[in-house]
Amino acid sequence: MDIDIIEVGPRDGLQNEQKPIPTGVKIEYIRNLISSGLKEIEITSFVSPKWVPQLSDAESIVHQLKNELDHASIKYHVLIPNKKGLAKAYQYNISRIALFTTTSDAFSMKNMNAPVENIIQEYSELIPEFRRNVPASWIRIYLSNCFECPFTGKVDPCKTLEVSKRLIDLGVDDLVMSDTTGVATPDEVGNMLELMLTALPASQISCHFHDTYGMAIANVARSIQLGVRRFDSSSGGLGGCPYAPGASGNLATEDLMYFLTRSGYKHGVDLEKIVWASENLLNSLGKRSSSKVHQVYLSSCYNQAA
Ligand code: HMG
Ligand code: MG
Repeated sequence: MDIDIIEVGPRDGLQNEQKPIPTGVKIEYIRNLISSGLKEIEITSFVSPKWVPQLSDAESIVHQLKNELDHASIKYHVLIPNKKGLAKAYQYNISRIALFTTTSDAFSMKNMNAPVENIIQEYSELIPEFRRNVPASWIRIYLSNCFECPFTGKVDPCKTLEVSKRLIDLGVDDLVMSDTTGVATPDEVGNMLELMLTALPASQISCHFHDTYGMAIANVARSIQLGVRRFDSSSGGLGGCPYAPGASGNLATEDLMYFLTRSGYKHGVDLEKIVWASENLLNSLGKRSSSKVHQVYLSSCYNQAA
Protein backbone atom coordinates (compact mmCIF):
# COMPACT_ATOMS: atom_id res chain seq x y z
CA MET A 1 0.00 0.00 0.00
CA ASP A 2 1.26 3.49 -0.87
CA ILE A 3 1.50 6.25 1.70
CA ASP A 4 2.10 9.89 0.70
CA ILE A 5 4.72 11.83 2.61
CA ILE A 6 4.27 15.60 2.49
CA GLU A 7 7.55 17.23 3.49
CA VAL A 8 6.92 20.46 5.41
CA GLY A 9 10.50 21.05 6.59
CA PRO A 10 11.20 24.11 4.41
CA ARG A 11 8.15 25.86 5.92
CA ASP A 12 7.16 24.43 9.32
CA GLY A 13 10.69 23.19 9.97
CA LEU A 14 12.33 26.56 9.44
CA GLN A 15 9.71 29.12 10.50
CA ASN A 16 10.47 28.83 14.21
CA GLU A 17 14.27 28.98 13.96
CA GLN A 18 15.58 32.05 15.75
CA LYS A 19 18.94 32.34 14.03
CA PRO A 20 18.73 33.84 10.51
CA ILE A 21 19.27 31.13 7.89
CA PRO A 22 20.87 32.30 4.63
CA THR A 23 18.64 31.86 1.60
CA GLY A 24 21.38 29.78 -0.06
CA VAL A 25 21.25 27.24 2.79
CA LYS A 26 17.48 26.90 2.38
CA ILE A 27 17.84 26.50 -1.40
CA GLU A 28 20.45 23.77 -1.00
CA TYR A 29 18.23 22.05 1.58
CA ILE A 30 15.22 22.07 -0.75
CA ARG A 31 17.37 20.85 -3.67
CA ASN A 32 18.52 17.94 -1.54
CA LEU A 33 14.91 17.18 -0.65
CA ILE A 34 13.92 17.29 -4.33
CA SER A 35 16.59 14.69 -5.13
CA SER A 36 15.34 12.32 -2.39
CA GLY A 37 12.29 11.08 -4.28
CA LEU A 38 9.78 13.14 -2.28
CA LYS A 39 6.67 13.83 -4.32
CA GLU A 40 5.16 16.67 -2.28
CA ILE A 41 6.92 19.55 -0.55
CA GLU A 42 5.68 22.67 1.20
CA ILE A 43 8.43 25.00 0.09
CA THR A 44 7.78 28.17 2.10
CA SER A 45 5.05 30.57 3.19
CA PHE A 46 3.78 33.89 1.87
CA VAL A 47 2.89 35.24 5.31
CA SER A 48 3.71 38.65 6.75
CA PRO A 49 7.49 38.99 7.14
CA LYS A 50 6.77 41.01 10.28
CA TRP A 51 5.10 37.97 11.79
CA VAL A 52 7.55 35.34 10.54
CA PRO A 53 10.86 37.05 9.70
CA GLN A 54 12.61 33.73 9.12
CA LEU A 55 10.62 33.19 5.92
CA SER A 56 10.88 36.76 4.62
CA ASP A 57 12.94 35.42 1.68
CA ALA A 58 10.01 33.31 0.48
CA GLU A 59 9.72 35.03 -2.88
CA SER A 60 13.40 34.60 -3.61
CA ILE A 61 13.14 30.88 -2.81
CA VAL A 62 10.16 30.38 -5.09
CA HIS A 63 11.78 32.41 -7.85
CA GLN A 64 15.02 30.41 -7.68
CA LEU A 65 13.49 26.95 -7.41
CA LYS A 66 10.31 27.02 -9.46
CA ASN A 67 11.85 25.68 -12.69
CA GLU A 68 13.63 22.85 -10.88
CA LEU A 69 10.48 21.85 -9.03
CA ASP A 70 8.44 21.91 -12.23
CA HIS A 71 11.02 19.80 -14.08
CA ALA A 72 11.27 17.28 -11.25
CA SER A 73 7.47 16.82 -11.40
CA ILE A 74 7.26 17.55 -7.68
CA LYS A 75 3.94 18.71 -6.28
CA TYR A 76 4.79 21.79 -4.27
CA HIS A 77 2.71 24.29 -2.42
CA VAL A 78 3.09 27.49 -0.44
CA LEU A 79 1.37 28.38 2.84
CA ILE A 80 -0.87 31.43 2.49
CA PRO A 81 -2.87 33.33 5.14
CA ASN A 82 -4.81 35.89 3.12
CA LYS A 83 -5.42 37.64 -0.19
CA LYS A 84 -2.06 39.37 -0.05
CA GLY A 85 -0.42 35.95 0.01
CA LEU A 86 -2.69 34.82 -2.81
CA ALA A 87 -1.53 37.74 -4.97
CA LYS A 88 2.00 36.37 -4.62
CA ALA A 89 0.80 32.92 -5.65
CA TYR A 90 -0.55 34.47 -8.86
CA GLN A 91 2.67 36.39 -9.39
CA TYR A 92 4.75 33.21 -9.26
CA ASN A 93 2.27 30.94 -11.03
CA ILE A 94 1.74 28.73 -8.00
CA SER A 95 -1.22 26.42 -8.52
CA ARG A 96 -1.13 24.62 -5.16
CA ILE A 97 -1.71 26.52 -1.93
CA ALA A 98 -2.09 25.68 1.75
CA LEU A 99 -4.42 27.79 3.90
CA PHE A 100 -4.71 27.58 7.67
CA THR A 101 -7.08 28.19 10.51
CA THR A 102 -7.84 26.67 13.89
CA THR A 103 -10.53 25.40 16.23
CA SER A 104 -9.73 28.18 18.71
CA ASP A 105 -10.28 31.95 18.56
CA ALA A 106 -7.58 32.49 21.18
CA PHE A 107 -4.98 30.80 18.99
CA SER A 108 -6.31 32.46 15.85
CA MET A 109 -5.83 35.91 17.39
CA LYS A 110 -2.22 35.08 18.31
CA ASN A 111 -1.36 33.46 14.98
CA MET A 112 -3.39 35.49 12.48
CA ASN A 113 -4.61 38.54 14.41
CA ALA A 114 -8.24 37.71 13.67
CA PRO A 115 -10.92 35.35 14.98
CA VAL A 116 -11.71 32.10 13.15
CA GLU A 117 -14.95 33.53 11.73
CA ASN A 118 -13.06 36.32 9.92
CA ILE A 119 -10.53 33.86 8.51
CA ILE A 120 -13.27 31.56 7.20
CA GLN A 121 -15.03 34.59 5.70
CA GLU A 122 -11.83 35.63 3.91
CA TYR A 123 -11.28 32.08 2.64
CA SER A 124 -14.87 31.87 1.40
CA GLU A 125 -13.96 34.67 -1.03
CA LEU A 126 -10.37 33.66 -1.69
CA ILE A 127 -11.05 30.00 -2.61
CA PRO A 128 -13.61 30.54 -5.39
CA GLU A 129 -11.46 33.36 -6.76
CA PHE A 130 -8.40 31.10 -6.87
CA ARG A 131 -10.43 28.29 -8.48
CA ARG A 132 -11.67 30.67 -11.19
CA ASN A 133 -8.22 32.08 -11.95
CA VAL A 134 -6.14 28.92 -11.74
CA PRO A 135 -7.55 25.96 -13.68
CA ALA A 136 -5.15 23.42 -12.11
CA SER A 137 -5.72 24.76 -8.59
CA TRP A 138 -5.27 22.48 -5.62
CA ILE A 139 -5.99 23.64 -2.07
CA ARG A 140 -5.20 22.16 1.30
CA ILE A 141 -6.26 23.69 4.56
CA TYR A 142 -4.71 23.05 7.94
CA LEU A 143 -6.96 22.87 10.94
CA SER A 144 -4.69 23.61 13.89
CA ASN A 145 -5.37 22.59 17.49
CA CYS A 146 -7.60 19.66 16.61
CA PHE A 147 -7.08 18.28 20.12
CA GLU A 148 -5.86 21.07 22.36
CA CYS A 149 -5.30 24.83 22.23
CA PRO A 150 -2.18 26.12 24.01
CA PHE A 151 -4.27 28.99 25.46
CA THR A 152 -7.65 27.46 26.24
CA GLY A 153 -6.92 23.76 26.72
CA LYS A 154 -8.66 20.62 25.48
CA VAL A 155 -10.80 20.92 22.38
CA ASP A 156 -14.12 19.07 22.18
CA PRO A 157 -13.99 16.70 19.14
CA CYS A 158 -17.46 18.01 18.19
CA LYS A 159 -15.91 21.48 17.84
CA THR A 160 -13.18 20.06 15.59
CA LEU A 161 -15.87 18.37 13.48
CA GLU A 162 -17.98 21.53 13.31
CA VAL A 163 -15.11 23.72 12.04
CA SER A 164 -13.96 20.94 9.69
CA LYS A 165 -17.40 20.76 8.08
CA ARG A 166 -17.29 24.48 7.39
CA LEU A 167 -13.86 24.13 5.80
CA ILE A 168 -14.99 21.18 3.67
CA ASP A 169 -17.94 23.26 2.49
CA LEU A 170 -15.46 25.84 1.21
CA GLY A 171 -14.39 23.23 -1.35
CA VAL A 172 -10.85 22.31 -0.33
CA ASP A 173 -9.05 19.25 -1.70
CA ASP A 174 -7.20 18.23 1.43
CA LEU A 175 -8.10 18.85 5.07
CA VAL A 176 -5.05 18.64 7.32
CA MET A 177 -5.92 17.56 10.83
CA SER A 178 -3.17 19.18 12.88
CA ASP A 179 -1.91 18.50 16.37
CA THR A 180 -0.08 21.81 16.70
CA THR A 181 1.39 21.17 20.13
CA GLY A 182 1.86 17.41 19.69
CA VAL A 183 -0.27 16.37 22.65
CA ALA A 184 -2.64 13.79 21.19
CA THR A 185 -2.54 10.05 21.87
CA PRO A 186 -3.68 7.26 19.51
CA ASP A 187 -7.08 6.92 21.21
CA GLU A 188 -7.73 10.64 20.85
CA VAL A 189 -6.63 10.54 17.21
CA GLY A 190 -8.83 7.51 16.56
CA ASN A 191 -11.88 9.17 18.15
CA MET A 192 -11.35 12.38 16.23
CA LEU A 193 -10.83 10.59 12.90
CA GLU A 194 -13.87 8.36 13.37
CA LEU A 195 -15.93 11.54 13.77
CA MET A 196 -14.28 13.18 10.77
CA LEU A 197 -14.98 10.16 8.60
CA THR A 198 -18.68 10.75 9.11
CA ALA A 199 -18.22 13.99 7.15
CA LEU A 200 -15.64 13.25 4.45
CA PRO A 201 -13.67 10.35 2.91
CA ALA A 202 -10.25 9.40 4.25
CA SER A 203 -8.76 10.30 0.85
CA GLN A 204 -9.40 13.98 1.62
CA ILE A 205 -7.68 13.89 5.01
CA SER A 206 -4.01 14.38 5.83
CA CYS A 207 -2.57 14.25 9.33
CA HIS A 208 0.01 16.72 10.63
CA PHE A 209 1.46 15.56 13.92
CA HIS A 210 3.98 17.47 15.98
CA ASP A 211 6.03 15.15 18.15
CA THR A 212 6.29 16.98 21.48
CA TYR A 213 5.45 13.92 23.58
CA GLY A 214 6.82 11.30 21.17
CA MET A 215 3.32 10.15 20.18
CA ALA A 216 3.46 11.02 16.48
CA ILE A 217 4.37 7.60 15.08
CA ALA A 218 1.76 5.85 17.22
CA ASN A 219 -0.74 8.41 15.94
CA VAL A 220 0.27 7.70 12.33
CA ALA A 221 -0.25 3.97 12.93
CA ARG A 222 -3.74 4.60 14.32
CA SER A 223 -4.60 6.92 11.42
CA ILE A 224 -3.52 4.33 8.85
CA GLN A 225 -5.82 1.77 10.51
CA LEU A 226 -8.68 4.19 9.91
CA GLY A 227 -7.80 4.72 6.23
CA VAL A 228 -5.67 7.90 6.20
CA ARG A 229 -2.86 7.66 3.65
CA ARG A 230 -1.28 11.13 3.72
CA PHE A 231 1.10 12.35 6.42
CA ASP A 232 3.09 15.55 6.89
CA SER A 233 6.59 15.37 8.30
CA SER A 234 9.69 17.50 8.56
CA SER A 235 13.15 16.14 7.82
CA GLY A 236 15.35 16.06 10.89
CA GLY A 237 12.29 16.70 13.08
CA LEU A 238 12.54 20.49 12.99
CA GLY A 239 9.47 22.63 13.32
CA GLY A 240 6.89 24.38 15.43
CA CYS A 241 4.57 27.32 15.21
CA PRO A 242 6.11 30.52 16.64
CA TYR A 243 2.68 31.48 18.04
CA ALA A 244 1.95 28.16 19.77
CA PRO A 245 3.82 27.98 23.08
CA GLY A 246 4.90 24.41 23.75
CA ALA A 247 4.89 23.39 20.10
CA SER A 248 7.99 21.38 19.35
CA GLY A 249 9.24 19.78 16.16
CA ASN A 250 7.16 17.94 13.61
CA LEU A 251 7.21 14.20 13.22
CA ALA A 252 10.63 13.61 11.61
CA THR A 253 10.49 12.41 8.00
CA GLU A 254 13.19 9.87 8.89
CA ASP A 255 11.04 8.36 11.66
CA LEU A 256 7.99 8.25 9.42
CA MET A 257 9.94 6.54 6.63
CA TYR A 258 11.47 3.95 8.94
CA PHE A 259 8.06 3.10 10.35
CA LEU A 260 6.43 2.90 6.92
CA THR A 261 9.18 0.78 5.37
CA ARG A 262 9.33 -1.69 8.26
CA SER A 263 5.54 -1.95 8.24
CA GLY A 264 5.49 -2.84 4.54
CA TYR A 265 4.12 0.46 3.16
CA LYS A 266 5.57 2.08 0.06
CA HIS A 267 6.61 5.75 0.01
CA GLY A 268 9.26 6.04 -2.72
CA VAL A 269 11.67 8.22 -0.73
CA ASP A 270 15.37 7.56 -0.19
CA LEU A 271 16.17 7.57 3.54
CA GLU A 272 19.87 8.20 3.06
CA LYS A 273 19.17 11.32 1.02
CA ILE A 274 16.69 12.64 3.60
CA VAL A 275 19.17 12.06 6.42
CA TRP A 276 21.88 14.00 4.58
CA ALA A 277 19.50 16.77 3.52
CA SER A 278 18.57 17.39 7.14
CA GLU A 279 22.09 16.78 8.47
CA ASN A 280 23.55 19.47 6.19
CA LEU A 281 20.85 21.90 7.26
CA LEU A 282 21.25 21.05 10.95
CA ASN A 283 25.02 21.51 10.72
CA SER A 284 24.52 25.02 9.44
CA LEU A 285 22.15 25.68 12.37
CA GLY A 286 24.57 24.12 14.85
CA LYS A 287 21.89 21.64 15.91
CA ARG A 288 21.39 17.89 16.24
CA SER A 289 18.37 16.05 14.96
CA SER A 290 15.79 14.92 17.50
CA SER A 291 15.05 11.91 15.29
CA LYS A 292 16.34 8.60 16.65
CA VAL A 293 16.33 7.12 13.14
CA HIS A 294 18.43 10.04 11.94
CA GLN A 295 20.92 9.57 14.80
CA VAL A 296 21.21 5.81 14.34
CA TYR A 297 21.68 6.18 10.61
CA LEU A 298 24.39 8.82 11.01
CA SER A 299 26.36 6.85 13.57
CA SER A 300 26.25 3.75 11.38
CA CYS A 301 27.62 5.83 8.47
CA TYR A 302 30.44 7.15 10.66
CA ASN A 303 31.19 3.66 12.03
CA GLN A 304 31.43 2.28 8.51
CA ALA A 305 33.76 5.10 7.50
CA ALA A 306 36.04 4.55 10.53
P1 HMG B 1 -1.94 41.69 10.49
O1 HMG B 1 -0.82 42.42 11.18
O2 HMG B 1 -3.29 41.75 11.12
O3 HMG B 1 -2.09 42.05 8.95
O4 HMG B 1 -1.48 40.17 10.35
P2 HMG B 1 -2.16 43.40 8.19
O5 HMG B 1 -3.08 43.18 7.05
O6 HMG B 1 -2.44 44.54 9.14
O7 HMG B 1 -0.66 43.55 7.65
C1 HMG B 1 0.43 43.81 8.48
C2 HMG B 1 1.66 43.93 7.60
O8 HMG B 1 1.95 42.65 7.01
C3 HMG B 1 1.44 44.88 6.42
O9 HMG B 1 2.72 45.41 6.12
C4 HMG B 1 0.99 43.96 5.33
O10 HMG B 1 1.26 44.47 4.05
C5 HMG B 1 1.85 42.72 5.59
P3 HMG B 1 3.01 47.00 6.36
O11 HMG B 1 1.98 47.71 5.56
O12 HMG B 1 2.88 47.17 7.86
O13 HMG B 1 4.42 47.11 5.87
N1 HMG B 1 1.21 41.50 5.11
C6 HMG B 1 1.83 40.62 4.33
N2 HMG B 1 3.04 40.60 3.78
C7 HMG B 1 3.37 39.54 3.01
N3 HMG B 1 2.52 38.50 2.77
C8 HMG B 1 1.29 38.48 3.32
C9 HMG B 1 0.89 39.57 4.12
N4 HMG B 1 -0.21 39.87 4.79
C10 HMG B 1 -0.02 41.05 5.39
N5 HMG B 1 0.49 37.45 3.08
C11 HMG B 1 -1.48 38.10 9.10
C12 HMG B 1 -2.34 39.19 9.76
C13 HMG B 1 -2.41 36.94 8.81
C14 HMG B 1 -0.88 38.67 7.83
C15 HMG B 1 -0.34 37.69 10.08
O14 HMG B 1 -0.92 37.40 11.31
C16 HMG B 1 0.44 36.52 9.60
O15 HMG B 1 1.17 36.61 8.62
N6 HMG B 1 0.33 35.39 10.32
C17 HMG B 1 1.00 34.16 9.93
C18 HMG B 1 1.69 33.54 11.14
C19 HMG B 1 2.33 32.24 10.73
O16 HMG B 1 2.87 32.11 9.64
N7 HMG B 1 2.28 31.23 11.64
C20 HMG B 1 2.86 29.94 11.35
C21 HMG B 1 2.12 29.18 10.31
S1 HMG B 1 0.71 28.32 10.94
C22 HMG B 1 1.38 26.87 11.63
O17 HMG B 1 2.56 26.77 11.78
C23 HMG B 1 0.46 25.74 11.96
C24 HMG B 1 0.54 24.60 10.93
O18 HMG B 1 1.86 24.09 10.85
C25 HMG B 1 -0.42 23.47 11.31
C26 HMG B 1 -0.24 23.04 12.80
O19 HMG B 1 0.85 22.55 13.16
O20 HMG B 1 -1.21 23.24 13.54
C27 HMG B 1 0.13 25.08 9.54
MG1 MG C 1 2.74 22.60 12.14
